[in-house]
Amino acid sequence: MRIPLIVGNWKMNLTTKEAASLVEKLKSRFSNIEGVEVAVCPPFTSLETVSKLCKESSIHVGAQNMFWEEQGAYTGEISPLMLKDLGCKYVILGHSERRQFFGETNENVSRKVKSALKHNIIPIICVGETLAQREAGETDRVCREQLQESLKGIDNLEGNEIVVAYEPVWAIGTGKTASPKDADHVANFIRLILANMYSAKTAERVRILYGGSVKPENIVEFMAQPNIDGALVGGASLKADSFGEIVHLCLV
Ligand code: 13P
Repeated sequence: MRIPLIVGNWKMNLTTKEAASLVEKLKSRFSNIEGVEVAVCPPFTSLETVSKLCKESSIHVGAQNMFWEEQGAYTGEISPLMLKDLGCKYVILGHSERRQFFGETNENVSRKVKSALKHNIIPIICVGETLAQREAGETDRVCREQLQESLKGIDNLEGNEIVVAYEPVWAIGTGKTASPKDADHVANFIRLILANMYSAKTAERVRILYGGSVKPENIVEFMAQPNIDGALVGGASLKADSFGEIVHLCLV
């Protein structure tokens, strides 16, 4: 039984004060919530504040990126030890914005995934095709390559948890979404790849999220799909009302 997971990716938004105010509102909305897991991924600058505020609440905390090394001369980078120290349960890896604007490759992602698993941080591995790739019928191939290469060198996932997020690049921040059926097709395909790489049992327990313009208006349809176990939410996670509604709609 996979517990639904709703993750808010705040991206490069909110000052520490704004982050604290949002999280206080979310805490009151999610007190005593059961049957769905909630996590927020603030920018590094407000991770400590948010993490402290979320202690003893039902909200988990994640980071939006990390470097694979534990420490050293890597100016501007953040290590898994630092994230662990701040109580991060999750880290988003390979987001398309990292790939597009910061040159992140599958090889980088695989080093980060290994490092996250070593430090008991659950990686949320993002895959997804661009519009041109979709129109060329390459969605499955692109997602397969991104996933296989991101997990390269990881021979088994026994005792380790990963989450995969399917985020079609053309659906991020555009108001367009994949149809729930198309998203479920890709989520099912991702599960088959995991079954092939590891085992059917492993594939059955991995949570697969959909991301890309998720809102209160469309979450129910996505959650109704058999292979979609939750959502990675960008814009709609920045407001307590819309994020709160998305989470509550997962319970119906
Ligand atoms: P939006 O929900 O703003 O489309 O962003 C999706 C996303 O990139 C989450 O990681």
